[in-house]
Amino acid sequence: MSQALSGRHFLKLLDFTPAEIAGLVDLAQDLKQKKHEGIPHRYLEGKNIVLIFEKTSTRTRCSFEVAGHDLGMGVTYLDPSGSQIGNKESIKDTARVLGRMFDGIEYRGYGQEIVETLAEYSGVPVWNGLTNEFHPTQMIADLLTIRENFGSFPGLKLVFMGDAKNNVANSLMVACAKMGINFVACGPAECMPDAQLVETCRAIAAENGCEVQLTSDVEEACTDANIIYTDIWVSMGEPASLWEERIKLLSPYQVNAQVMSYAADDAIFMHCLPAFHDTETAVAKDIEERFGLTEMEVTDEVFESPRSRVFDEAENRMHSIKAIMLATLG
Ligand code: CP
Ligand code: NVA
Repeated sequence: MSQALSGRHFLKLLDFTPAEIAGLVDLAQDLKQKKHEGIPHRYLEGKNIVLIFEKTSTRTRCSFEVAGHDLGMGVTYLDPSGSQIGNKESIKDTARVLGRMFDGIEYRGYGQEIVETLAEYSGVPVWNGLTNEFHPTQMIADLLTIRENFGSFPGLKLVFMGDAKNNVANSLMVACAKMGINFVACGPAECMPDAQLVETCRAIAAENGCEVQLTSDVEEACTDANIIYTDIWVSMGEPASLWEERIKLLSPYQVNAQVMSYAADDAIFMHCLPAFHDTETAVAKDIEERFGLTEMEVTDEVFESPRSRVFDEAENRMHSIKAIMLATLG
């Protein structure tokens, strides 16, 4: 497995075959077992990686740091203000400097073209820790979580509710099409994924015996679904002024008990996190004051229910990021 992806970048799932994606999920599962059993796996002793975060993070940063340490590597973190990137030094130059010092580079930030440029010029594997367009490391964790619950992928139905044009929804559409999972984007017309990407995913889905559907009908979308997935209504990098418009557009697509009741008996709820399911954050308190909402994309009832797998997903970020680094650096 490690051999097969050695030296590759991990920028978007479109670049990988279903067998390669399944291999990463298998490796993540194996590394999860080793971690739980306390079996050391310092396979990358002596290597060094750098993590560039131009947007904030809890899960992705901590996953790269813990996974890097577990694999025996040195880890350097560059926060949004801690380097010359973008202000005094271009991405192209940054790539050529960091590539001389590090064995791998993680990038979280804005346009997909930035991470593609880093990959083109660095000479070492580059991992996409989230861009405006895609969030591919999240997908390996989500696929692992799905397989832990259902045993395999083909024939399952995953519904993404809400802002179906964001990075997580785009990535889920690709991941599902590759793995034979029927994907439904459920939201208003204004929040549907890019038509070109939908066309690409439909062609991939046809090869793998599944479908990609877009709909605004919640009951139709969620009937018999195995997985109901949602994400925040305004993503990082989007202006806060969008909240009012998004709340109006997306409130009908909130994941609540009614929505879950349409799904299959064994259906699970997933969310990449962070989630607005209560008023225990500064942003949520501000939204409550301005719009009177105490929950947004998911109700607290669903978030805290036995069907919710959100913390398994969060844990799986670490195991899957470890698998991605081991496969590409090993
Ligand atoms: N799901 C996810 O990427 O979380 P962070 O923004 O905390 O990294
Ligand atoms: N769509 C969200 C995902 C966060 C993990 C964002 O980009 O902010």
